[in-house]
Amino acid sequence: MELGLAGKVALVTGASRGIGAAIATELAREGVHVCLVSRDMSKLQEVAAGLTNSASVRTAVHAADLREPDAAAGAVAAAIAAFGRLDILVNNAGATKRADFFTLTEEDWQDGFALKFHGYVRMTRAAWPHLREVQGSVINIGGIGARAGSAEFTIGGSVNVALLNFTKAMADIGIQQGVRVNAINPGLIETDRFTRNVERVMRERNVDREGALAFLLSAGGTKRVGRPEEIGALAAFIASAKGDFLQGSVIDIDGGATRSL
Ligand SMILES: NC(=O)c1ccc[n+]([C@@H]2O[C@H](COP(=O)([O-])OP(=O)(O)OC[C@H]3O[C@@H](n4cnc5c(N)ncnc54)[C@H](OP(=O)(O)O)[C@@H]3O)[C@@H](O)[C@H]2O)c1
Repeated sequence: MELGLAGKVALVTGASRGIGAAIATELAREGVHVCLVSRDMSKLQEVAAGLTNSASVRTAVHAADLREPDAAAGAVAAAIAAFGRLDILVNNAGATKRADFFTLTEEDWQDGFALKFHGYVRMTRAAWPHLREVQGSVINIGGIGARAGSAEFTIGGSVNVALLNFTKAMADIGIQQGVRVNAINPGLIETDRFTRNVERVMRERNVDREGALAFLLSAGGTKRVGRPEEIGALAAFIASAKGDFLQGSVIDIDGGATRSL
């Protein structure tokens, strides 16, 4: 599908691997210039090098720890310095710890909120004037953990549900100011984060990888694990003019794991 995104500029956080790298890849395939942000400069450069499938697509990389209060403004400034405008902000960097509630520390909670909640809030605040100028779009990558509480995901579920309310609130502002704000809730997606989840289940249940996979799929009642590029394709559609009527939408992409309305 021709999405008409060529020449737009996106900033994607957590773009050094996994879902963020896949979103950056899909946007670049559509002709979008992409600024990739995470902590690991060499991994960012590797991903960026793979995006130059089209001679007209330009990339920029910016290394920052988005838990730091000033990091968001620096990341947006880097995108503006490289491209002079910003049309699409994808908030994706997240690393909430999954474990038994009683083993999680105060620091684990602060850390989870610092990156995935306050990081998204700060990125949105810093990018907003630029997005308003071009009538752009924000996509928040949440997670289906927002939809139902679960024993081993107290931090992630709480962060994700806060992000959904934040998405709706910014969409309310965005209606007036011409910025669209939407959220994607991925289910199980095959990334390093998912691998760590599989390893946790292997340890806790004393099963092999196949057994852990079977457990996770049966817990979700789904047939397979999702691929990062499936999230990339959805993000590109939302950011495009074809997704123009999406405002404050929260889209679960999870193979049917979420049954609740
Ligand atoms: N995979 C799933 O099954 C799944 C399901 C639901 C929701 N999600 C959500 O999707 C998003 C991406 O997940 P993923 O599976 O792709 O995770 P991942 O493979 O662990 O990648 C996380 C990304 O975030 C970056 N990052 C981590 N800490 C950072 C920090 N302090 N500052 C800046 N960047 C940081 C990492 O890069 P550096 O290490 O280079 O900083 C990396 O690029 C997360 O928000 C996650 O909660 C994932």
